[in-house]
Amino acid sequence: MPRIELRGITKRFGDVVAAKDVNLTIEDKEYVTFLGPSGCGKTTLVKIISGIWEPTEGEVLIDGKRMNEVPVEDRDLGYVFQSIALFPHMTVLSNTVYAPIVKDFPVEERDKIAQEVLDLVDLLDRKKFFPGELSTGAQQKAGLARALASQAKLLILDEPLSALDARVRVDLRYELRRLVKDLGLTAVHVTHDQEEASSVSDRIVVMRAGRIVEIDSPENLYNNPKSIFTANFVGEMNFLQGAINKLRDYWAIIELRNQEYLTLRNRDFRLGAAIILAMRPENLRVEELRGTRLGNAIPGRIKSIRFMGSYLRYEVLLASDDYVFVDSFAGEEFKEGEQVAVSFDETNILTFPAPREGLSEVIKLE
Ligand SMILES: Nc1ncnc2c1ncn2[C@@H]1O[C@H](COP(=O)(O)OP(=O)(O)OP(=O)(O)O)[C@@H](O)[C@H]1O
Ligand SMILES: [Mg+2]
Repeated sequence: MPRIELRGITKRFGDVVAAKDVNLTIEDKEYVTFLGPSGCGKTTLVKIISGIWEPTEGEVLIDGKRMNEVPVEDRDLGYVFQSIALFPHMTVLSNTVYAPIVKDFPVEERDKIAQEVLDLVDLLDRKKFFPGELSTGAQQKAGLARALASQAKLLILDEPLSALDARVRVDLRYELRRLVKDLGLTAVHVTHDQEEASSVSDRIVVMRAGRIVEIDSPENLYNNPKSIFTANFVGEMNFLQGAINKLRDYWAIIELRNQEYLTLRNRDFRLGAAIILAMRPENLRVEELRGTRLGNAIPGRIKSIRFMGSYLRYEVLLASDDYVFVDSFAGEEFKEGEQVAVSFDETNILTFPAPREGLSEVIKLE
């Protein structure tokens, strides 16, 4: 049943503000991820939810009950620590049955649970090993098994997959989500990997410098981010700066630098207003440069081509002096140095009011 509410949570360490006025509700059985750059306060928040740390200000409620000052062992949660933190003098198996023993589960039940969770993380053959005898990735899996074995309804996962190989990491993501949903758990997962966050979560909490920037489903954060910071942090994004040059009822002409222009549907623009245009590399196309231009296209020159596996990434310097990345699945149709045009479909262009402090300031990671 765990429903978590954070009300006005602030955490200070001397002059450092690790969390600033955080308000958030995580519903029962919801899978929520804290996503943000290093040092933005993700671990701080999960430690406060767990009772490992007390907030400087604010309240933590679980199922409507105030939990401030309630010690971690009385909050009934499974916790996978960022630093792993297994009991070093105990085998993998003893680590795993620790919580079931503390909770006084009957012996057969303990063994059954341990067997199941160790099987899930593929560690059955190493259950007699001590943590020091395992690779970092295997230690992380043991940490996960230990947290799952607690049978707690609230699972806290602080970078639970960071030490694993790419392949295993992707497999375990799906396992984790399936498990949380099958068992009806509430999960709070911390990561700075936006792909991981998108693939496991019901909702993602985007954080920056101790504050929540935005909360939404993975799809909405990707397709319709409400802030430039999220647009940049979740997925890849190209940004162009422009100004509203002409305004009609339905259309607006956007002037880029060097007298290059794009046409967008009028989205309540104001004449003369400075805007930021954002578009994803997979939504742009590199085309042959032709004499007459149809629709939205800006001439440019290919600066570099990178092989990305299933696609190519063109880096193009536009006539507007902007660099953009364009992802192409069509194979290498163009060469480095070639004059081309980059075309833009207006429905794929997001627009934001230009921030007063400048673009680079609002996408900065700290
Ligand atoms: N025990 C502590 N004493 C002093 N400052 C701390 C302490 N723990 C964290 N901080 C500071 O609080 C801020 C947030 O740290 P936190 O560990 O919550 O970030 P994070 O988002 O988990 O980062 P990472 O992705 O690197 O794990 C940082 O500036 C950090 O230096
Ligand atoms: Mg952390």
